[in-house]
Amino acid sequence: MRIAVFASGNGSNFQALVEYFKENEVPATIDWLFCDRPDAFVLQRAEKLGIKATCFSPKEFASKVLYEQAILEELANHQIDLIVLAGYLRIIGKELLTAYENKIINIHPSLLPDFPGLHGIRDAFEARVKETGVTVHYVDSGVDTGPIIRQEKVEIEPQDTLVTLEEKIHRIEHRIFPEAIVELINMGDSTQ
Ligand code: GRF
Repeated sequence: MRIAVFASGNGSNFQALVEYFKENEVPATIDWLFCDRPDAFVLQRAEKLGIKATCFSPKEFASKVLYEQAILEELANHQIDLIVLAGYLRIIGKELLTAYENKIINIHPSLLPDFPGLHGIRDAFEARVKETGVTVHYVDSGVDTGPIIRQEKVEIEPQDTLVTLEEKIHRIEHRIFPEAIVELINMGDSTQ
């Protein structure tokens, strides 16, 4: 199975995935990175890790449909079976959802359905809830709404700051994201 990762920023999850897939015997490979922001640090990570990357922005296209059609062309060129969103800050449109039905997975830094959207960690911290967490889920047309694949909780302790909470969440993400993907592949999901 050939996997593409989509990312827009730092790319720590992308790196964790690539390292896990290189270090463990899994029936899949991370073959391609798509990035929509030319200044994103994830592109430097891809170069260091030796993963092919392509970057273009929707601004370069007359419509979202054309933007996603260009992505689909690249996905076909790289013979991608499964798309993994790791900090990709755009809503997936109809073109991609139709072509990759049930084959797009996302990671979100909260216990969905609580705190969807761009600031899951900060929103949970500011709401003063006692626990939050990480969710791996299938992508549908909503914002962080698809069927849940795996969740892990983390306690927000009185001494936590936003920074320490972010660190805890990212540690969990880097561990459970590759594990959840491999489990799905081994179960035969996302392969039909
Ligand atoms: C992660 O917290 C992920 O859950 C969210 O975006 C963040 C990406 O971080 N979707 P990074 O770019 O992988 O470091």
